[in-house]
Amino acid sequence: MNMNINKKPIALVTGASSGIGRDMARYLNSLGYNLIITARDEDKLKKLKQELEEKKLEKKELSEKSEVKTNGKANIDIIVADLAKEEECISLYKQVKEKYKNIDILINNAGFGLFGSFLETDLETELDMINVNVKAVHILAKLFMQDMVKANRGTILNVASVAGFMPGPLMATYYCTKNYVFRLSEALREELKKKKSDVKISVLCPGPVDTNFNKVAKVKFNLKEASSEYVAKYAIDKLLKHKFLIIPGFSVKMARFFSKITPDNILAKVCYHMQEKKR
Ligand SMILES: NC(=O)c1ccc[n+]([C@@H]2O[C@H](COP(=O)([O-])OP(=O)(O)OC[C@H]3O[C@@H](n4cnc5c(N)ncnc54)[C@H](OP(=O)(O)O)[C@@H]3O)[C@@H](O)[C@H]2O)c1
Repeated sequence: MNMNINKKPIALVTGASSGIGRDMARYLNSLGYNLIITARDEDKLKKLKQELEEKKLEKKELSEKSEVKTNGKANIDIIVADLAKEEECISLYKQVKEKYKNIDILINNAGFGLFGSFLETDLETELDMINVNVKAVHILAKLFMQDMVKANRGTILNVASVAGFMPGPLMATYYCTKNYVFRLSEALREELKKKKSDVKISVLCPGPVDTNFNKVAKVKFNLKEASSEYVAKYAIDKLLKHKFLIIPGFSVKMARFFSKITPDNILAKVCYHMQEKKR
């Protein structure tokens, strides 16, 4: 059944229960997008839905009192999924396709990190990380992109990181996952261009952002953190302008520049030194 009844564009945001994903959902909602929000924590997703619906109501009441009218109620759909599990990634795709047929924006944002020496970090946690940060992004990008290319419309935003530009001793697995996301996005962009498809892809590479990430990864950033509201708005604004590589903040742009001109062995040494300070 196609639920695209109110003709508003639809965005699917993974990892929408917290941090950058939640703020991207808030911002897209303010732009009038219908939303499909997904993560494991159903309570947090319900809270976000309630918050956005209350905002809509306030706007509607205001618009009824003024000359300016809001154009219908945006739909917010919750799908609870553990993206570390392949079958839940596939099921998420199937549920969305069944309900909406095509979506306008896919945001592959869910992800997490883990700090520590490769010799000591927990294997199960790392395999889950590879599943969420790499495998889920891969599955969802492929399945949704196939539909988007058929319809010749749609946009994908993959959330990588400044970590995607370099090796990351003491956070080795996380950096590798983000290198994968960055390079996959670059490759897909070229394939779409060669196909002359109108489907677009972008990749977001933030530096440190103030979210739940640190707590989950067991790190303390020693650099100034950007707010997730700023990063989310910056990313969506650039995405809607079809900018491919989205790097919020001057210092992160500089990090990208240095990663390109510095030999890999030196980069690894610098990274090790910076990560050490996060203990
Ligand atoms: N914060 C930073 O400094 C920073 C910098 C660069 C890039 N990033 C990237 O930005 C993205 C968002 O992270 P954040 O900083 O906003 O951290 P966050 O506040 O911890 O949010 C992470 C989101 O990912 C979801 N997630 C984690 N594991 C999941 C799983 N197994 N299945 C489904 N969803 C899962 C979480 O939802 P549930 O726990 O409810 O499942 C949560 O909504 C990540 O890809 C991260 O690598 C962050």
